[in-house]
Amino acid sequence: MKSTKDFLEMKNQRKKIVMLTAYDYPSAKQAEQADVDMILVGDSLGNVVLGYDSTIYVTMEDMIHHAKAVKRGACNTFIVVDMPFMSCHLSIRDTLLNGARIIQETGAHAVKVEGADGVLSHIEALVKAGIPVVSHLGLTPQSVGVLGGYKVQGKDAQAARKIVEDAKRCQEVGAFAITLECVPKQLAEEITSLVSIPTIGIGAGVHTDGQVLVYHDILTYGVERVSKFVKPYANVNKQITEGLLAYVDEVRSGLFPDDQHSFTMKEEELMTLYG
Ligand code: KIV
Ligand code: NA
Repeated sequence: MKSTKDFLEMKNQRKKIVMLTAYDYPSAKQAEQADVDMILVGDSLGNVVLGYDSTIYVTMEDMIHHAKAVKRGACNTFIVVDMPFMSCHLSIRDTLLNGARIIQETGAHAVKVEGADGVLSHIEALVKAGIPVVSHLGLTPQSVGVLGGYKVQGKDAQAARKIVEDAKRCQEVGAFAITLECVPKQLAEEITSLVSIPTIGIGAGVHTDGQVLVYHDILTYGVERVSKFVKPYANVNKQITEGLLAYVDEVRSGLFPDDQHSFTMKEEELMTLYG
């Protein structure tokens, strides 16, 4: 299993870091079998698994419940768990208790915190307490209300400069990696060269030190519409629909279950039973 030190080394050796989300036992198991470097138990589980239209409804209990299942499926992979909405914004004490719960109750290795303003001292406190932190900048879905929608961030010079400064500040307070979501590729490249910790992009172009995507998005599983930055590598929806329709058809027509899928009793036992 890789460590925070290995990810730093990968950046320095220009080896791409592959991160993928997972939310339960089977997705984690398959992510590990596919040899991803890092698994993210993202609060995107609110959207792709729980059916919410936003990540702000996801709770600490949701994150812990899913992260435990992920750990059971991928016990040999580095696991990062999202700190859900408002779980690292109240007191430092609350933040530390929430971070500790995630690490201790799930067996995950790190937490991810959205944004920089208002949470820098919280990130610092987590790191000082021994909890590795990944920062998340650019489009931060927990702040969608303030941002005014799911849009590309840092498109003008002023907004770009702010994200650069935030990235430096996150590094200064001890984050070991930075996720960059939905920013122009030139900005992601600039940040990647300015910070010494690895950057992991999602909709941030090819120049980040690693990439992360949502499990359900790359497999077209459950989701209907995906962002421009998602490349669908498979279509699981199609296969599930075909399988389910065939099952429904065969039960209704009496084709299932046939003898191959049924148990039988010996003739002599039947005779004894019915005389
Ligand atoms: O929740 C999530 O899946 C994420 C990634 C998109 C970075 O935060
Ligand atoms: Na997230």
